[in-house]
Amino acid sequence: MPKILVTGSGGQLGLELAALLPWRSHEVVALSREELDVADFGAVRLALEEHSPDIVVNAAAYTNVDGCETETDLAYRVNALGPRNLAQLCEERGHDLLHVSTNYVFDGKSERPYEPFDAPNPISAYGRTKLAGEEYVRQLTNDWYVVRSAGIYGRGHNFVRTMLRLGAERDVLEVKDDEFISPTYAADLAEGIVGVIEGGHYGLYHLTNSGSCSWHEFAKEIFELAGVEVEVVPVPGSEYPLPAARPANGVLSTLGSPELRNWREALEDYLMREKVI
Ligand SMILES: NC(=O)c1ccc[n+]([C@@H]2O[C@H](COP(=O)([O-])OP(=O)(O)OC[C@H]3O[C@@H](n4cnc5c(N)ncnc54)[C@H](OP(=O)(O)O)[C@@H]3O)[C@@H](O)[C@H]2O)c1
Repeated sequence: MPKILVTGSGGQLGLELAALLPWRSHEVVALSREELDVADFGAVRLALEEHSPDIVVNAAAYTNVDGCETETDLAYRVNALGPRNLAQLCEERGHDLLHVSTNYVFDGKSERPYEPFDAPNPISAYGRTKLAGEEYVRQLTNDWYVVRSAGIYGRGHNFVRTMLRLGAERDVLEVKDDEFISPTYAADLAEGIVGVIEGGHYGLYHLTNSGSCSWHEFAKEIFELAGVEVEVVPVPGSEYPLPAARPANGVLSTLGSPELRNWREALEDYLMREKVI
């Protein structure tokens, strides 16, 4: 039975991986931030020596996109040096490495969904540190997978939960309609990642639920499915400037990756599992 070590196992994706892997006949060692700080080279070495997994899945990251603009040292340590530590030690010890990355490595100016080999050009500190992490993985290991995803929601802080909270407090909400993504349910992403591992073909993947929408459409769908009556007004993102810039086109082309169901179907399933509907 292949043994998989998951870092960042307290996060949205990490929780789903830890729950799914045993069902798919993998032995799982799930380590949260408290159990393993990926930025600590010595701690990573000890964890790999102790567990000697066949593959490491790095689901750990500093994902506060706006926070990364000011906490750049922390962002670089977690998002770049973390994967560097894992990559160097996985290569030394002969473990495969699957590293999870983001659509925010792109600038969002493309007129079409981004292919895995389109040139990255991050426009935020988060995107730059995540790209640096990808590059360490590609440079320091031979047996790597890099899986980029987008708009993840699951058991954690995310857009769906924020909308449901605000929708309960207000009658009218303004949501940006000039930024596009493929919302992705963390449980589906975990399924896709297991598919990538089982496929055994190393390389770069784009993995999201299928279809795409603006954040405004996403919000409308959340309220419609949840039966919450709230007026969702489309506004340009420029009306709500945030510390970090976001790509206007955050949609990834998933050709060649395991196919995940449409984002609307996934959202409905999530809301049912969360007992919202
Ligand atoms: N969320 C999104 O919309 C999105 C979109 C595209 C790609 N991604 C990528 O997908 C992956 C999973 O994201 P997610 O949504 O599951 O994020 P998440 O819920 O924020 O989970 C990340 C986990 O990493 C942990 N962590 C932070 N610093 C760490 C460190 N130094 N060592 C070990 N663990 C550490 C966090 O712990 P604490 O919470 O205790 O800090 C958290 O449990 C990440 O690589 C992220 O960059 C996310």
